[in-house]
Amino acid sequence: MSIDQIKDAIESGGTGDDLAGLAIPDTYRAAHTLRSEQEMFADMASADKDPRTSLHVGQVATPELAPDEVVVAVMASAINYNTVWTSVFEPLSTFFFLDRFAREGHWESRHRQDFHVVGSDASGVVVRVGNAVRNWKPGDRVVIAPVVTHDQDPDAHEDQMLAANQRAWGFETNFGGLADLTTVRASQLLRKPTHLSWEEAAVNLLCAGTSYRMLVGAHGARMKQGDIVLVWGGTGGIGGYAVQMVLNGGGIPVAVVSSPERAEVLRELGCELVIDRKAEDYRFWSDEHTQDESEWRRLGKKVRSLIGDDPDIVFEHPGRQTMGASVFITKRGGTIVTCAATSGYMIEYDNRHLWMKLKSIVSSHFANYQEAWEMNRLIDRGVIQPVMSEVFPLDQTGEAALKVHRNQGEGKLAVLCLSPEAGMGVSDAEKRDRIGEDRITLYQRHARGEL
Ligand SMILES: NC(=O)c1ccc[n+]([C@@H]2O[C@H](COP(=O)([O-])OP(=O)(O)OC[C@H]3O[C@@H](n4cnc5c(N)ncnc54)[C@H](OP(=O)(O)O)[C@@H]3O)[C@@H](O)[C@H]2O)c1
Repeated sequence: MSIDQIKDAIESGGTGDDLAGLAIPDTYRAAHTLRSEQEMFADMASADKDPRTSLHVGQVATPELAPDEVVVAVMASAINYNTVWTSVFEPLSTFFFLDRFAREGHWESRHRQDFHVVGSDASGVVVRVGNAVRNWKPGDRVVIAPVVTHDQDPDAHEDQMLAANQRAWGFETNFGGLADLTTVRASQLLRKPTHLSWEEAAVNLLCAGTSYRMLVGAHGARMKQGDIVLVWGGTGGIGGYAVQMVLNGGGIPVAVVSSPERAEVLRELGCELVIDRKAEDYRFWSDEHTQDESEWRRLGKKVRSLIGDDPDIVFEHPGRQTMGASVFITKRGGTIVTCAATSGYMIEYDNRHLWMKLKSIVSSHFANYQEAWEMNRLIDRGVIQPVMSEVFPLDQTGEAALKVHRNQGEGKLAVLCLSPEAGMGVSDAEKRDRIGEDRITLYQRHARGEL
C-alpha cells in the first residue's frame, strides 16, 4: 500500500469511510535526524552548524497506533525554532528526550528509535483513529497542537502544562509533523480553519499558542487595554502573533526588529512603534561577561521617546543578550514574560531593578489544550492571521531550517508534505474573501516584494 492512495483519496474528496478503508503503509517519508550523527557538530560554533547536513528526508517505520491516538495524513507542516535546536543537537541531542520518554511506558517505548522525525506543527486529514478516541473520525480536517500529556497526571487537570509528563511533539517525542504521516494523541487535534490553505493553517499553533498564553491566557502576563508591550523579534514566529494580539487587545505594541524591511511589515500590520535594533546598534554586553547599563538606559529612553512611558510588559525570548535590558526597561510593577532563550539560557540581570521596582518575571511554555483551542478559534474567525512568509517542499526541510537558524526568514516558514502545491485546502472561499486576502497574505506578499 502506498501513500499515494491516501493522497489521491484526499485530493479527490474521498469520504471518511473511503480513507478508513485504505491501509496505512508500513513506512512513510519523513524529515529526521539520525542517532548515529548526533556528535557530527561536536566542537563547532553554533552558527556554523548546518541543518541541511543533519536533516534527512527518507522512509521511516510507521509506529503501531495506541488506543488514544490518531494517524493524520499531513498536508503541510512548518519549521519551528525547536526544529533548528534538534537539527544542530543543541542544547543537547533530542535522542536524550526520546530515550527519557521511552522509559515512561509501553506506548512511549515506540519513540526510542535511531531516527527522530521532527516537526511540531501540521495540518492534515485524520485517516485512522485508535479505539479509545471519542471526538474525531477519519476524514476530519485538522491542525495539530504540540503538547503531549497523559490525562492520568493530577496536575494536568489544573493546567496541562504543569503535568510532569508534558512533552513537545516532534521535539521531545518522535513521529513529528514534517512528514507524510504522523501519529499523535487525539488530545492534540483541533479543527482546521476553513478559510486557510493547508500551509497557512499548518504554521500557527505552536507559536500563536505560545504567544496567547504569554500575553492573553490566565497563566501569563494578562495584558489589559492600554498596556504598552515591548515585543522582541516583532516579525518572528512568536513575535508576529504577539504584535497582533497586543493590537487586538487594545494594547500598544512597541516592536523590536533588525531591519527596515521588517519594520515595514509591522507598519503595514498597524504597529506604528518599531525599533530597529541593528540601526540603533545596541550593545547590552560590553564583553562576554559584562553588561553595559548605559545601553539598557538608551533602549529605555528610546521607548519613552516613542510612547512617553515604560513598557507594562516585555515579551522576552532572546534570553541572555536581552534579559538585562528587558528587566531594566520594564515599568515599575510591570511584567517580563519569558518563554525562551535563543541567545543563551544562563541569564544575568540586575536584581535591584527587579525587586526595588516590584517587577515580576513570569515564565511561560507553549499553551495547554484549552488555550490552544481558544487561539485556534481566533484564527478560524479571522481575528489573528497566519504569519507565513514562504513555502518549501518537504525535501528542502534542511534549507528552511537553515534560514530560521540564520534569522533570515520572516514569521513562519511552511513546508508542503502531501499537499502538491501551495494554495490548496481552502474549503470556505466566501469566508476568506470576507476576512480579506490581503490581511491573510501580508507576510507572503512582503516576502515576494509586493508591499
Ligand atoms: N517555550 C515555548 O513554548 C516556545 C514556543 C515557541 C518558541 N519558543 C522559543 O522562542 C524563541 C523564538 O522563537 P521564534 O519561533 O519566534 O523564532 P524566530 O522566528 O527565529 O524569531 C525570533 C526573533 O527574535 C529576534 N532575535 C533573535 N536573536 C535576537 C537577539 N540576540 N536579540 C534580539 N532579538 C533577537 C529576531 O528578530 P530581529 O532580528 O528582527 O530582531 C528573530 O526574528 C526560540 O528560542 C524558540 O525556541 C519557545
